[in-house]
Amino acid sequence: MNASLYNEDFFAGIHRVEDRSIDLVISDPPYGLGKDYGNDSDHLYGSDYVEFSRRWVDALLPKLKPGGSLYVFLSWQNSPEVFSLFKTRMQMINEIIWDRRVPSMGGSTRRFSSVHDNIGLFAMSKEYYFDLDSVRVPYDEQTKKARTRSIFVGKKWLEMGYNPKDMWSIARLHKQDPERADHPTQKPLELVERMVLASCPPGGLILDPFMGSGTVAVAALRHGRRVSGFELNPDYFSVIKKRVAEFGVINKSSFRSRESHRVAGATMPAGSE
Ligand SMILES: C[S@@+](CC[C@H](N)C(=O)[O-])C[C@H]1O[C@@H](n2cnc3c(N)ncnc32)[C@H](O)[C@@H]1O
Repeated sequence: MNASLYNEDFFAGIHRVEDRSIDLVISDPPYGLGKDYGNDSDHLYGSDYVEFSRRWVDALLPKLKPGGSLYVFLSWQNSPEVFSLFKTRMQMINEIIWDRRVPSMGGSTRRFSSVHDNIGLFAMSKEYYFDLDSVRVPYDEQTKKARTRSIFVGKKWLEMGYNPKDMWSIARLHKQDPERADHPTQKPLELVERMVLASCPPGGLILDPFMGSGTVAVAALRHGRRVSGFELNPDYFSVIKKRVAEFGVINKSSFRSRESHRVAGATMPAGSE
């Protein structure tokens, strides 16, 4: 089974996931900024938000393999406290700044406009999986040309590209973007695919506790990883099913709804990567 996706509260359903079976968690929880997800999950502030983060991370830590890792998306308002908390449980490997490439138009007048999200990368142990080569950024032709001097010729790094670093400049999805689904905080595939390739071995299992529009599931399936995930809102769950059918490469998948646990096997077109 490549995908086990549940229209269910993560806290109620996490027991379905086998202990020490997960290679990678990609968690994009509500940020505590009061957004409307058709539920009140984004209305948690201050110490309540930290407590919510403690609850979800403690619920899923036993599910991670000893060499597993976890990415968490946060906003600057809560990231200091949540990073401190997670550091008591895992090793912090990186803070990644996602620059959403917000165009310069007006903006705040009483402070600097915020245009980034804070992403933490944590690992269960020093032996975590990390495949840098799969996410290297190719040098452009100009740079390659400028490095034609004999000392650079045949240099592996010039051919393979460079480390993407910890500042990721990837445009957020505009309303008219063909990738855009009906979800207010959908993340770009390009961003999530980098996490999948770097931090989950081929065939490995990824857990997304808060699926939203299902970006993690799509990225996982496109790259030959398995995925398990939870989403509360039935409308978003329909979006997930549609996106997985359109974009995911998948042989057999199951979608389970809270009400009926119906299994709808789906065969997706192969080779659409
Ligand atoms: C920030 S969004 C995720 C966006 C997603 N990464 C994407 O690219 O579309 C968080 C989602 O978590 C869902 N959610 C909130 N609490 C939940 C819970 N306890 N269990 C499952 N889903 C939950 C919300 O309905 C919302 O769709």
